[in-house]
This record gives sequence, structure tokens and C-alpha cells, in this order.
Amino acid sequence: MAKPVLDKTKRGWWESAVFYQIYPKSFQDTTGTGVGDLKGIISRLDYLEKLGIDGIWLSPVCASPQVDNGYDVSDYCAIDPMFGTMEDMDALIAEAKKRNISIIMDLVLNHCSDQHIWFREALKSRENPYHDYFIWRDGDASTPPNDMGSVFGGPAWTYVPHLGQWYFHQFVPQQPDMNWENPKVLQELYTMINWWMEKGVAGFRIDAIINIQKDLDFPSYAPDGADGLASVVRMVESVNGVGEKLQDLKKNTFAKYDAFTVGEVFNMKREELEAFVGENGHFSTMFDFSVNCLSDGPGGWYRNKTIAFDDFRRTLFQSQMECLDIGFLANIIENHDEPRGSSRFLPEYAQNEMGMKMLGTVSMLLRGLPFLYQGQEIGMTNCPMNSVEEYNDINTKSEYRLALEAGLSEEEALEACYRFSRDNARTPMQWDDSPHAGFTTGIPWLKVNPNYTSVNVALQEKKEDSILNFYRKLIALRKSEEFRELFTYGDFHPVLEEETEILAYCRSLGQKKVMVIANFGKESAVISDDFFGDCRCLLTNDTVRISENRLTLAPAQVVVLTK
Ligand code: GLC
Repeated sequence: MAKPVLDKTKRGWWESAVFYQIYPKSFQDTTGTGVGDLKGIISRLDYLEKLGIDGIWLSPVCASPQVDNGYDVSDYCAIDPMFGTMEDMDALIAEAKKRNISIIMDLVLNHCSDQHIWFREALKSRENPYHDYFIWRDGDASTPPNDMGSVFGGPAWTYVPHLGQWYFHQFVPQQPDMNWENPKVLQELYTMINWWMEKGVAGFRIDAIINIQKDLDFPSYAPDGADGLASVVRMVESVNGVGEKLQDLKKNTFAKYDAFTVGEVFNMKREELEAFVGENGHFSTMFDFSVNCLSDGPGGWYRNKTIAFDDFRRTLFQSQMECLDIGFLANIIENHDEPRGSSRFLPEYAQNEMGMKMLGTVSMLLRGLPFLYQGQEIGMTNCPMNSVEEYNDINTKSEYRLALEAGLSEEEALEACYRFSRDNARTPMQWDDSPHAGFTTGIPWLKVNPNYTSVNVALQEKKEDSILNFYRKLIALRKSEEFRELFTYGDFHPVLEEETEILAYCRSLGQKKVMVIANFGKESAVISDDFFGDCRCLLTNDTVRISENRLTLAPAQVVVLTK
């Protein structure tokens, strides 16, 4: 059945949309190479349509040496042969459109690959016209321009002996930062973005975008890493002026096409929220990473923290309240850079089907744009690896080394990776219980989670009360005629905050009111509220137990009530 096209009377069609992130390498292989491809995505569009989503965020598919799995682009206007061809891409856009699904590309603007022609030219000489596309500082081989450390470990500078210069990279050396002070660079990037818009994509998820602003003096910061370096993050959070660049970017590209944009923004100054996502903000929306950041320890995954429920609830509510009169945040439980949310945000006793449905509900009905990540809808979990060799991710490998250097045993270092590795979310999609989970007929590029025989789409299709079917109902509820306006524009306010293990909030619009109540506790909970008296249950992962104004919730139970 065709879905109604969303009206565009407010800020954009995207305000009431539900998005789904695809990590193409791990979604569906059709060629037996062990790597997912565009044709594979096309073959699963019906599945996505049935799930009820409106937009797909596609992690990078452009030509890349894959040092950072596509976030090191060597040609922005070519599809990596590993994923297929530009014809496949056009077919994907067209096929998705038929199903009222928009395609959102991943846009990596802070850096490109060291194999991009721009950087290969830049390396030739200081006089080469592309040299100034990147950020260089003179010096000798023993003294980097400052003591900054990159996001993935090691110095943020790499020396090029034949030039007698260092170049700057906030990520790995194969991802040189581009020089956003050079108007020619901007022209190249703007032209490329507009070229993609002309192809019919609906917009972009914009990678590491706040990182484009550098402090060109490159001062030294106090070391904060175990390696004695100061993370580039210190510069990112203290430097000013990114807004002008972002407005210029918007004016020359997105605004011309009314494109939807979602920024990946860490370390933003809080008072800039409006500048980022307000009415004339730099982006349509940006991800809310506030609860993810709660795990951050003082340097290194091995020092990361377990998230206490209280902090989780307070932080989530704070983000919601802060953005209420400003704009929309994009809500996630997990993405390709994060471990699986169920293993992170749910207490151990709730890391089961009930708990996953509860977490999904709490997240989906918040104010803001829900972004699901592939596999979340079937309850995929972190994947146990037997050794560090089983990991692919560069970041995981450097975090493992860091932990060993800090004196942890191999077992302990591996445990930190098990909890926080980005590969936890990158293992192949689990379609069925055939070999390699129906993802490939070849050898998968990354291990398939051994739990695929019990956690897979085919099985959950058949099970009435599966997580998959629950997500279908949840999305349908969010987008239903009756409640779409409320979930999109409705007010948000926390309720029952005095209950120590209950996460509950109210969404309301005019006379309409919906309450979402989730029990994160290990024991049943009994709560009294006048609201329960003559309410109607819209969704639950268990049986509703209400007598007069008393609601009883089983552990990990969620209820969505209205009246
Ligand atoms: C973003 C991407 C991540 C990548 C990094 C460098 O954070 O999400 O996967 O490694 O940028 O491009």
C-alpha cells in the first residue's frame, strides 16, 4: 500500500520522518564477495518499506581505499566498485523513490583520502596548485608543529620529508584534513554537493563537520592522553567561527535544493544550539549524542564508564528540554560508530527482547527524528570476538594497543573492545539462519555474530511478538494519522521523576496527551497517577495491568498510554 506523501507545510517533509541507517558493507551482498553492495540494498527495499521508514542514511559508498571504511574518500563522484556502479546508485535512488523513501548520502567534508587526486598532487611540490588544498606547517622531522593527538591515536601531524613539511589530520594519516580557508576547496566541495543533489538524493548526513574549523595558530594544549598528546578535540571545542563556514556551505548548496541535512556534531558549544538547528540553523537537525557521551572516560575505552540509569534519564531529558523551543534533534540508540545500544543502555537483567522493545519505544517516541540503525529492529547485539585479529576497525585496533600500553592484560584489553568497539555495530545484517546469516554466499568481510541462528529477520517475520514486528507497530504508531502531529510537534515533558527506576515522559498537543512509561528496574513497579484512570493503551511489550489509577509494570515493561 502506498504511503501518504508527508505534507510540507512546516519546516520540511523530514520533520515527521523515520530514518534508517544502512552500513552498506554489512547490509546485503549479492555478488559473493563477502561485502554488501548497492544491488543488495535495492533487493531489501521492500523489507524497509514494510518497516515503515521514510529515509535511508547511506554510510559512504564513494570510491575509497577503505582505510576507514569509506570515510576516506578518493573520488566523491564515483561509486566504489566494491559496492557497484553509478547506474546501481541511480537505480537505488529511483527504486527508493517509488516506495516514498528518500536517500540521504554521507558527506565527508573535513578530510579526504590520501589517495584522492588532490592530495596526490599536493604531495608533488609546494608549488603544486593542490598543495594549498591541505594544511601544512614547515619544520624538521623531529618536531611536529604542536603536540596534538588524532582522534584514532597517534599524532595529528605526519611529516613529508621531500617537502620538509607536516600535514594535519584529525583522524588517521590517510585522511588529510582539507583547508577550508582556501576558496578553491570550497568551490570543489560545493560543486560536488550540488552534483549529488541534481542526481536526486534528498540530502546528507554530514560527517565530522565541526572539525572543519581549526585554530590556525595550532597552539599547544595540556596533554590529556595516555600517550602524552593533547587530543584534537581540545582544539575543536575551543575554537570559534565554524558558523560562518557552515552558513556559507548551506547557502551555496543545501538551501538551493531545500535539502535535508543532519550534522554529526560533537563538542559543540551549548549556547550555539540555535545556530545549528534553529529556524535558520546550519542544519535541519543534528544527532543527539548526549547519552552516548556518558560512557566517555578520561582517555581510552578501557577507562570508559558504565552508564547509570539516573544519568541516562537526566541527560536524555535535558537534551529534549533544551531543544524544545529551538528545533529538532535526531535520536539514535546506536550507529556505525557506537556499540549496540541494548548492551549499553539497558541494565544487564533487561538485555533481552522485552528490554530492547522498551528501549526502542522510549527512543522512538521522543521529540525529534528517529534514526534506526540496521539490525536494531531485530535486536542485534554486540559481537564477541575471540582475538583482536577478528576486528577490522582501525579505531578498535588503536584502542586495544592503548589499553595494553596502559598495562592491561590482553584479555582486559579485548574486554574493552567487546564493550565499545565500532565493529559491534558493523557485523553483517542477520537475515536468516542459513550460513553467514543470508548476508553473503562468500566469506563475510567481518565476522557474523554467532547469535544469528536465533536473532534474524526470517525468524522474526514468523513470530507475531518479535522485536521486528514490535518495531513495525511502533513506527506505525508514530506515523499514524491520529498521533503523527503529536509525536512530531507535540510538547515533551518528563513525568514521574520521583520514581527511581522509571523513565516516563509525556507528549502532548492541544487536548491530546500520550504518556510513555518504562520500567528499567529489576522488580515489578506499581505507580499511581490520575492519568491511568480511564486511559487507552496504544502499545506495550507485555500485558497492561491497570486497576483504577494504579499501573503495574513488569521489569523491562513499557506502556504507551493516551486519553
Ligand atoms: C565520523 C564517522 C566515523 C569516521 C570519522 C572520520 O565520526 O562517523 O565512522 O571514522 O568520522 O571520518
